[in-house]
Amino acid sequence: MRIIKTKDYQELSKVAADIIAAQVRLKPTSVLGLATGSTPIGLYKELIRQCSEEKLDFSQVVSYNLDEYVGLSPDNDQSYRYFMDHNLFNHIDIERKNTHLLSGTAEDLEAEATAYDEAIAAVGGLDLQLLGMGNNGHIGFNEPADHFTDVTNVIDLAESTIEANSRFFSDKSQVPRRAITLGYRHIMQARLVLMVVSGEAKAETLAKVIKGEISPRVPASILRLHPNVIVVADEAALSQVGDL
Ligand code: F6R
Repeated sequence: MRIIKTKDYQELSKVAADIIAAQVRLKPTSVLGLATGSTPIGLYKELIRQCSEEKLDFSQVVSYNLDEYVGLSPDNDQSYRYFMDHNLFNHIDIERKNTHLLSGTAEDLEAEATAYDEAIAAVGGLDLQLLGMGNNGHIGFNEPADHFTDVTNVIDLAESTIEANSRFFSDKSQVPRRAITLGYRHIMQARLVLMVVSGEAKAETLAKVIKGEISPRVPASILRLHPNVIVVADEAALSQVGDL
């Protein structure tokens, strides 16, 4: 696990965007695993800038997002499809047909999950998986649990995640209780994993991820078993890790 410490969120966004941009420039047909949430917004802005000013080209890139809320249709402004369209896809030259998100309104969510895993396998897996990290250490919506679930699956969101994500909704009762998330298999099989973590609220968990026990109780800790992980985190997020 390589850890890059940045002074603040702005620098984190630039460093992480440059890693993704390098991936796309070196392999224009890259398959990217993408994330939503607050943390990637800055790096998505930087990628948009590089597209318009520095000829970064997403025209052959294929993307698969990590997760989606169950019950929210793509036109719901809290859905992750809506988030991705507005924060990235609408502003770059990626082909819409190459952008994939799980459907939270699929009639058969289990079949949706299986088909998603199969589709990622069929394109040869993910070249780069971008991850944020929840306050409780979740990656995707893989919440703390007794075991690591390999396949894409439907999960009950942890109470702390519902609380944390209620900031995006008019009130907490509006936050969906379930989500569909990529399991650990495709995350761990990605050729490069890039995790971005910002802010003091995540410092205690990030210290456990980096130095504590590898356990499904701290989902992101599994990344220490991956051969090619870069964590880009700001000083605040790394404030409880001690010496690196
Ligand atoms: C989002 C996702 C989540 C977030 C995590 C951190 O697609 O999979 O794991 O990355 O909840 O969210 P923020 O960045 O809002 O703190």
